[in-house]
Amino acid sequence: MAILKIARMGHPVLARVADPVTEPSDPRIAKLVDDMMETLADAGGIGLAAPQIHVPLRIVIYRVPAGRMPGGVEVPLTVLINPRLAPVGEARESDWEGCLSVPGMTGRVARWARLRFTARDLKGGTVEGEADGFHARVLQHECDHLDGILYPMRIDSLRDFGFNEEILRRREQEEA
Ligand code: NI
Repeated sequence: MAILKIARMGHPVLARVADPVTEPSDPRIAKLVDDMMETLADAGGIGLAAPQIHVPLRIVIYRVPAGRMPGGVEVPLTVLINPRLAPVGEARESDWEGCLSVPGMTGRVARWARLRFTARDLKGGTVEGEADGFHARVLQHECDHLDGILYPMRIDSLRDFGFNEEILRRREQEEA
């Protein structure tokens, strides 16, 4: 296992379309995912896509803490290989996001409120399910990385983009 360096916005690996994984059960993929898990745990993020550790393959990992789920039940650490997303319904929700590749910053992004996902797992099987709210947001954010899209590219108004501390202060004032 190894903690890997995380690519930052501006690096070409974050701007390209990642390649599908041809053999999800290949032990080299398991090793790569182990390294992604260790890197994510070290960085303290919610999710990580393989391009963020300079590997242009369609793999994402994430976990959603209980506090971010409406029912208070966490989504455990999940590995999705070659994931595909499809919206369920037309509803969209705006909320604030951050990214380990855009450190110190946050921005407000509209995303589908509900979606279906399907992917391969490390054994080569199929994973599928539905997600909504923050879980759906995480999936869209991570899968965007596989298509060379970083969340700042999806911000409607750049007024809603800034440094964490400044935006936090602004939100506290707005909510007061
Ligand atoms: Ni990200």
